[in-house]
Amino acid sequence: MCGIVGYVGNRNSQNILIEGLKKLEYRGYDSAGLAVFTDEGLQIKKAKGRLVNLENKLDVEPLNGFIGIGHTRWATHGKPSDVNSHPHTDNSQKFSVVHNGIIENYVALKEELTALGHVFVSETDTEVISHLIASLYEGDIVKAVQKAVTRMTGAFALGVLTEYEPEKLVAVRLSSPLIIGVGEGENFIGSDIPAILDYTRNVYILNDGEMAVLTKDGVELMTLEGNFISRELFYVDWDIITAEKAGFDHFMLKEIHEQPKAYRDTMGSRIDESGTKVILNEVKMTAEQVKSIQQVHIIACGTAYHAGLVGKSIIEKLARIPVETDVASEYRYRSPIITPNTLVIVVSQSGETADTLAALREAKRCGAHVVAITNVVGSSVAREADDVIVTWAGPEIAVASTKAYTSQLIAFYLFGLYLAQTLGSQDGEYIASVVTELKELPAKVEQILEQGEAFKDWAEQVASHNNLFFIGRGLDYAVALEGSLKLKEISYIHSEAYPAGELKHGTLALIEEGIPVIALATQDDLFEKTVSNIKEVKARGAYVFGLHSEGETELVKAVDQVFSIPNTLPLLSPALSVIPLQLLAYYASLARGNDVDKPRNLAKSVTVE
Ligand code: F6R
Repeated sequence: MCGIVGYVGNRNSQNILIEGLKKLEYRGYDSAGLAVFTDEGLQIKKAKGRLVNLENKLDVEPLNGFIGIGHTRWATHGKPSDVNSHPHTDNSQKFSVVHNGIIENYVALKEELTALGHVFVSETDTEVISHLIASLYEGDIVKAVQKAVTRMTGAFALGVLTEYEPEKLVAVRLSSPLIIGVGEGENFIGSDIPAILDYTRNVYILNDGEMAVLTKDGVELMTLEGNFISRELFYVDWDIITAEKAGFDHFMLKEIHEQPKAYRDTMGSRIDESGTKVILNEVKMTAEQVKSIQQVHIIACGTAYHAGLVGKSIIEKLARIPVETDVASEYRYRSPIITPNTLVIVVSQSGETADTLAALREAKRCGAHVVAITNVVGSSVAREADDVIVTWAGPEIAVASTKAYTSQLIAFYLFGLYLAQTLGSQDGEYIASVVTELKELPAKVEQILEQGEAFKDWAEQVASHNNLFFIGRGLDYAVALEGSLKLKEISYIHSEAYPAGELKHGTLALIEEGIPVIALATQDDLFEKTVSNIKEVKARGAYVFGLHSEGETELVKAVDQVFSIPNTLPLLSPALSVIPLQLLAYYASLARGNDVDKPRNLAKSVTVE
């Protein structure tokens, strides 16, 4: 986790670094700090809490200088505090480091350096890096960093400055994201592209095991062993405005409203002109390879995992191939049975989630073909997978994922249809009917969004409770899990999602007078059964909010309040039924006065295991 930025040029670095950190605050906001080379040498200012605390400090005591590094922290080693904030330095205070990642062997290094007389002030793993570099410095910062890196194990993106060579900014990448922005007479580093987009669109994306040396006049790329690398600049053609709030109160609300566009963009040219078939040119598997697939593993974390649960049903229904889904942090520790005939699908909005990346590597090591579904072109997951299906949701800034999740569903529909076409597991007429309905989804999402205020009212009723349940069967259960996660993470209301038929095996004991139960009943073939389960909770005093498809007339008799989504094929309903649940979570968070876009304890991109 954490976000890092760096600047070297002719402008005052403080403002550029702060603006960059604002764009990265989604990566963590436990504390922030800057190190700038000023007239008095290398100066560091840091503050616990949101970036604004650091800004307040800098208002009183600014850091004036033309080269600097900055950091926004999501605490791993050591609690959020001023002293644990980055940048860190060594005892001479001549070196300064910002770090995203984890140094796994930091305890051993700390002991070794302590024996040499180094005194540590923080509880962090990062402080070890600054001491290590200082101890290895013999007049060349690049060499000192290269030597230090050979001693460190773990994952890291680093920005390093030293007072001894005040014109140089050294950047390193190993398993944590880092990009270099190339300007005129100025250069930048950042954990993510938005951090530098106000200043330049020319970018180098560092690969694992690479480093960069930046001065105001140029950038040198090299391996960690010091071999120079020549690389084409990547031109970023998306607009910074898309990463701003565009008139909405919160990024989350904006991103919820961007879903019709995200659906259309993700489908884009992947549906042929006749509107009856899917074309996935980016999937390079031959028909023979597709036919040899014996099993599919879908691996992801959090919301992306919930998209994977829907993906499992889609692929099993359309392609008739058995699918297992795994939470990425569990996958490689359970000795999964992976063969060359296993197709592994990793799903990751950011493409940088450490657990997902580790699972991808394990799958590749075992010979599986890996398809990535990701929202970030050039991300680690995208670069390491064999094939990549990009979800064109655009930058997602709110910590709670919305448009990335639904775009992942669209990617699964496209991929499931592609498999079915290649395998001949469904007839052309059925495929054409699914494609036709798929194309209708964006307009149907627009219809749901038009009822926004109704969901606000619903959320206000729910917001005063501390516990509630989501229930559903089949695909409704998969969506219930996502609705429950969304509500928990931003409203801090405890909720559980249960397969509707499973409650009576224990959890029904928790149903008491007035407890809200949100029942999803969009699956025609499971409808009767779900209604029976609704009656079980109603009989025990639950207040039930039902969600069904327009035109269905029975649910209203079984529940206390009902909300509708437009009619579609049951297989496609997750792409609609989740929208009211996203709005419920959003308005409940708002009603509780929470910071919707930056919920406590969380960060957008989780680059630690
Ligand atoms: C919740 C949320 C997280 C992410 C998870 C995986 O709203 O966003 O659960 O889905 O951390 O992140 P990615 O998709 O970037 O791998």
